[in-house]
Amino acid sequence: MLGATGTIGRATVRALVARGHEVVCFVRPHARVGGEPASADRERRSSGATLRFGDVTDATSLARDGFCGERFDALVSCLASRTGAPRDAWAIDHRAHVVALDAARRAGVTQFVLLSALCVQKPRLAFQQAKLAFERELIASGLTWSIVRPTAFFKSLSGQIERVRNGKPFLVFGDGTLTSCKPIGDDDLAAYLVDCLDDASLQNRVLPIGGPGPAITPREQGERLFALLGREPRFKQVPVALLDVIVRVLAIAGRAVPALAAKAELARIGRYYATESMLVLDPSTGRYDADRTPSTGTETLFDFYARVVAGEAAPERGDHAVF
Ligand SMILES: NC(=O)c1ccc[n+]([C@@H]2O[C@H](COP(=O)([O-])OP(=O)(O)OC[C@H]3O[C@@H](n4cnc5c(N)ncnc54)[C@H](OP(=O)(O)O)[C@@H]3O)[C@@H](O)[C@H]2O)c1
Repeated sequence: MLGATGTIGRATVRALVARGHEVVCFVRPHARVGGEPASADRERRSSGATLRFGDVTDATSLARDGFCGERFDALVSCLASRTGAPRDAWAIDHRAHVVALDAARRAGVTQFVLLSALCVQKPRLAFQQAKLAFERELIASGLTWSIVRPTAFFKSLSGQIERVRNGKPFLVFGDGTLTSCKPIGDDDLAAYLVDCLDDASLQNRVLPIGGPGPAITPREQGERLFALLGREPRFKQVPVALLDVIVRVLAIAGRAVPALAAKAELARIGRYYATESMLVLDPSTGRYDADRTPSTGTETLFDFYARVVAGEAAPERGDHAVF
């Protein structure tokens, strides 16, 4: 298992162990779990999985410290660049996966389950190109493969709970109905990833997948939050043109200062999610289609909001959250 310390990776380790799989996770040496440096012993006791440490970008480390000359049945990867910046994305989402695929094959692996993203169906960003490039290599690899392309995660749609709780308005682009999505919960997505190991109907397929219930807009997310908090809805509309200006200014400044070029890409990522729905794109119409977006699982975003408001769950900060 790769990416075992991320949001979906942690949920996937839990699901794998719960279904009786023997799980070995290959993580960075400085990986921190629960705020403390990870230790192989503690992790084995707490999660039921074995933790091994090394560098996922290095073929020698993967073989020596990860696979350790043992035979494995499958590789499940929730590995992804944490920033989405072009260099990081090509190093992790593409290159590290190519190296891991090769090392896995040598270790006898015959099956690969890859967590990708639905947004690669309309690739405009460097990290999407990097993911697509590896998807193509995996499809051509000869292994049994499943490429899971989920919609939006709860953490990416929970960044405003605190500000609304603190009496501030809910920020939306345009009127808050420019996009919609069928968000998917961490545990529901993890269960689906694990299903791919045994369910032949999920193999050798690209699998777009969302959560249960109808597609919802950012405005509906805000309305539900205000209702749960017992407050009058209050929205502040942000013009998309503002993001366009930020992208353009950073792109020009980035020609002189490389750090600003990276910031320009992050602004492009923000603009992409402000205007593109996380639903399956109908190739015949070029429109996003909620009915063509398959659903799995039981937890809705609004169930999650209710748990957060009740203090029963805490949202993580989404890496690409705009607000
Ligand atoms: N956010 C959304 O709404 C959304 C929607 C659809 C699809 N997705 C996709 O889902 C995937 C996973 O998302 P996530 O939120 O679970 O990811 P995440 O929490 O950011 O976790 C990323 C994982 O990759 C590992 N990683 C990153 N860089 C590494 C490096 N240089 N060396 C070793 N390990 C490295 C991280 O390890 P460390 O803990 O050591 O950093 C972590 O285990 C991504 O491909 C994302 O594009 C996201």
